[in-house]
Amino acid sequence: MLLEGKSVVITGAGSGLGAAAAKAFAQEGAAIAVLDLNESAAERTAAEIIACGGKAIYQKVDVTSKTSVWAAGDTAANEFGCIDIWLNCAGISKILPFLDCTEEIWDSTLAVNLKGAFLCCQNAVTHMLQNKNGGVIINLSSQSGKKAGAQYQAYCASKFGVIGLTQSIALEFARKGIRANAICPGVVPTPMWDKQVTDYARKRNMTPEEVMPYFCKTIPLGRVCSYKNFTDMALFLASEQSEYMTGQALNLTGGSLLS
Ligand SMILES: NC(=O)c1ccc[n+]([C@@H]2O[C@H](COP(=O)([O-])OP(=O)(O)OC[C@H]3O[C@@H](n4cnc5c(N)ncnc54)[C@H](O)[C@@H]3O)[C@@H](O)[C@H]2O)c1
Repeated sequence: MLLEGKSVVITGAGSGLGAAAAKAFAQEGAAIAVLDLNESAAERTAAEIIACGGKAIYQKVDVTSKTSVWAAGDTAANEFGCIDIWLNCAGISKILPFLDCTEEIWDSTLAVNLKGAFLCCQNAVTHMLQNKNGGVIINLSSQSGKKAGAQYQAYCASKFGVIGLTQSIALEFARKGIRANAICPGVVPTPMWDKQVTDYARKRNMTPEEVMPYFCKTIPLGRVCSYKNFTDMALFLASEQSEYMTGQALNLTGGSLLS
């Protein structure tokens, strides 16, 4: 098992990619702290892990609040004895014309996606330094963190920022054995996409039903990204298989991004 005996914190683990990673990491032998703003969703993910014989705790967390993040991270460290791996999946997304982007949408997007990753990384690094055993941080950026799309201003700004944050942490803590990398997925059909498919269709002047077939046509590998594609990459970055990699932002786009 790739993560036998490891303690993992995952934010946004009540839904989508975070929930998939929580279950995949647990199957590889890790104990999981399932964190999400949606407490019942976090509870559901943890219950599924426990029902399969895994180890999990859950906690409500708002990643935009330092108090909330530190309470959750400290609880996980106390419960498990340490934090070996921290995966930041909490995120929000909004597709809308630039001139319609309100201050509230801008602030909330940057607060969850970028400040949230910053606060979580600070708690993760604090515990990892205390362990004196290194650690692994994985942040969720996006293909929109490397190549902007129209009508995606706040989201793109936040995801470009996540890559800069990840690189800076990687350089500062490399000699302490802490690795930090980012994943840049293209399109993974998750609840996030269910919420924004209508806005994407409006942007492209198509119907919501036409959106996923359109992606399949335009992505070089001819399909969108699966949960397994994502969890395979997350497991690779979390495990010793990637022990010589830090400061990277890995594309998971079926060939849509080439650098
Ligand atoms: N799905 C995709 O196509 C895709 C592509 C690229 C990047 N991403 C990124 O992957 C991550 C996961 O996305 P997803 O598709 O699984 O989305 P999702 O909507 O299914 O899950 C996001 C989770 O984050 C939680 N969350 C939101 N605000 C929070 C807060 N303040 N504190 C704690 N938790 C909060 C939500 O409750 C939800 O459970 C996001 O960062 C997203 O930007 C997704």
